[in-house]
Amino acid sequence: MVEKIEEIVREASRLMLTDHFRVDSKGGSENLVTSSDYAVQEYLCSKLSELVPGSSFLCEEEGMQDYGDHEYVWIIDPIDGTMNYTRGIRECAISVALKKDGELFAAVVYSPAAGEMFTAEKGKGARYNGNTIHISDRKFRDALFCTAWSTYRKEWAPVCMDIINDVYYRINDIRRFGVASLELCYLACGRCELYFEYRLQPWDIAAGSLILQEAGGILRTLHGKPLTYKCPELVIGANSEENFAELSSTIDRYIEETAY
Ligand code: IPD
Ligand code: CA
Ligand code: CA
Repeated sequence: MVEKIEEIVREASRLMLTDHFRVDSKGGSENLVTSSDYAVQEYLCSKLSELVPGSSFLCEEEGMQDYGDHEYVWIIDPIDGTMNYTRGIRECAISVALKKDGELFAAVVYSPAAGEMFTAEKGKGARYNGNTIHISDRKFRDALFCTAWSTYRKEWAPVCMDIINDVYYRINDIRRFGVASLELCYLACGRCELYFEYRLQPWDIAAGSLILQEAGGILRTLHGKPLTYKCPELVIGANSEENFAELSSTIDRYIEETAY
């Protein structure tokens, strides 16, 4: 199944390889959509519904947001990192997850500019360009922390900044790549150790989550609770239980103070 999804995603990525795309705003100059996002989504939906007839779709762009419970549900971000894409910055990815009976079952995250293909199937491990990957064993003090500060809802930025300010002095450094799905894959293959975003949509995280968990990592919401992948959620990731506990206790404390 994963190989077939991979093939469809590679084909879809050709639609991103153009300089002639239209850029529209989805309410705010930070939240963009391009004609490539629509083209990739349309292609994926048509090919993936042929692959799994009767499956339903939860996709970022309009008209494809079915949150109901079905046996097979695709969760798709046609271009994660759209702002990067519009500026010619390489960090952007196609993110496709398949849920089966309510559980994440298969995942593909593909960064066409870098030629990086991350995949996972439930219980079968995670792969990078075909090779098995695993999280790093770095401790909190040596961790690289991928995060962001609530780009689309800037009223939530101060609490993100407070958390980052608290964590920064206890770790190695911070990265803000602007592409959540890929950052979770970076965590999965040991390029970074910690992850936090205040609110992410199911399509930002579903595929990256399975890849990370199959690589031995952790992705949960506040107070260590499981993510639902059905609504916007606060997201915390780490390479180990120890590092997760350290990061999430800091986040829980700030969030409680601001009455999340
Ligand atoms: C965004 C990216 C970004 C994250 C935003 C997401 P988009 O997705 O994943 O890293 O900080 O919260 O919405 O809009 O480029 O698909
Ligand atoms: Ca996204
Ligand atoms: Ca997107």
